[in-house]
Amino acid sequence: MTETKKIRLGVLGSGKGSNFVAIADAIQSGQIPAEVGIVLSDVEGAGILDQARMRGIRAEYIAPGKFRTKLEEESERCFVEALSAAEVDWVVLAGFMRVLKGDFLRAFEGRIVNIHPSLLPSFPGLEAWKQALDHGVKFTGCTVHFVDAGVDAGPIIGQQTVPVLDADTPETLHRRIHAAEHLLYPACIGMLARGGVRVAGRRVMGSERVDC
Ligand code: GAR
Repeated sequence: MTETKKIRLGVLGSGKGSNFVAIADAIQSGQIPAEVGIVLSDVEGAGILDQARMRGIRAEYIAPGKFRTKLEEESERCFVEALSAAEVDWVVLAGFMRVLKGDFLRAFEGRIVNIHPSLLPSFPGLEAWKQALDHGVKFTGCTVHFVDAGVDAGPIIGQQTVPVLDADTPETLHRRIHAAEHLLYPACIGMLARGGVRVAGRRVMGSERVDC
């Protein structure tokens, strides 16, 4: 019997990497038929790099250049080269805090996914949990979506709601959203890896429900 080729993921993150850990654990337990080819970060010493190395996964820091919210052209080229050399099929943004531009998007068109800590299109951008709290919404959540040229704007693959409680502080709400992310992201990537996603314009039709 021939074994089907597992899809290879390239994971990009700027932070501690708890979403990466949830994905890596789901791969190990067989929930996601994929493998992680490489983990890259724009932050030297980011926790996500340590988490990858602890699991024997290649992990590299690539200097982002002089801008604060995007990659310099040369840096973007290095990210694309590293991902291509690692033969990744999909790029998974797991807390990567820079906007990706033209050449990167073209190199992996339709094959980049992101997780955002709100129910998009509400509260794109930074500290989405704080935005939700300040706005006074009663529910927020997290969203997994395809990445396009907009900021937190591409077609939505899956969402999970999280209640906002009267006693919430930004920290308690963020913690609850994080816990929901750790279930939603592996579920969505699992569906992608099984080929269970069809895109029609802005609508993404999944073969499974991924709310957790
Ligand atoms: C996550 O909450 C993710 O949704 C957010 O960064 C955090 C990374 O945490 N991403 C964004 O805000 C992107 N717009 P982690 O490093 O523990 O996975």
